[in-house]
Amino acid sequence: MNMIVAVDRNWGIGRNNDLLASIPGDMKYFKDHTLGKVVVMGRKTLESMPGGKGLPKRSNIVLTSNKNLSADRCTIVNSEDEMFSEISKYNSEDVYLIGGASMYNRYYSLCDKLYITKIDADLDADSFIINIDEDEGYKIISQSEPMTENGISYSFLVYEKINIKDCNEEQ
Ligand SMILES: NC(=O)c1ccc[n+]([C@@H]2O[C@H](COP(=O)([O-])OP(=O)(O)OC[C@H]3O[C@@H](n4cnc5c(N)ncnc54)[C@H](OP(=O)(O)O)[C@@H]3O)[C@@H](O)[C@H]2O)c1
Repeated sequence: MNMIVAVDRNWGIGRNNDLLASIPGDMKYFKDHTLGKVVVMGRKTLESMPGGKGLPKRSNIVLTSNKNLSADRCTIVNSEDEMFSEISKYNSEDVYLIGGASMYNRYYSLCDKLYITKIDADLDADSFIINIDEDEGYKIISQSEPMTENGISYSFLVYEKINIKDCNEEQ
């Protein structure tokens, strides 16, 4: 499984159940990665999407405790077990964890690759993920040059889970 997220300098990801900034280049990056793939999200992230609908041209899996929830284009799952059972129907490389904070913080460590857009600003978030740079289980494998759009500077970073076997071989 992969994870894709945009964070500010403080690893903030949202405010008032919305994104922190509108960055067309980042939206394109998100779309390029997830189109035709499987996206996994929490109920609040679904609600933050246009019309409260799942994303078009993607398989949407939504985790909620609400057994009555239904939403266009979405497969609703009511437990972790149900979520993993649904995810297991797909190739792991095709599955993207897309938020929000509760989902990222609980499941990021199950992801092999983390696509993190770093926004070089403090955007007054009320929703945060853990600082992945402090997790020794991941290393950065690529980093774009900084770009600026709408006065906001950002870069695309890709983190990869460090394979314990590789670590032992290096020693
Ligand atoms: N920057 C980014 O890239 C990005 C991406 C996505 C989202 N966001 C932001 O993230 C924020 C939302 O994050 P959030 O943590 O508040 O909400 P969230 O993770 O999207 O959704 C939380 C909900 O998911 C359900 N859930 C989570 N774990 C569950 C479990 N084990 N079993 C059953 N249900 C479970 C619960 O729904 P029920 O209450 O219905 O049971 C819970 O209230 C927003 O500001 C959004 O804009 C940012």
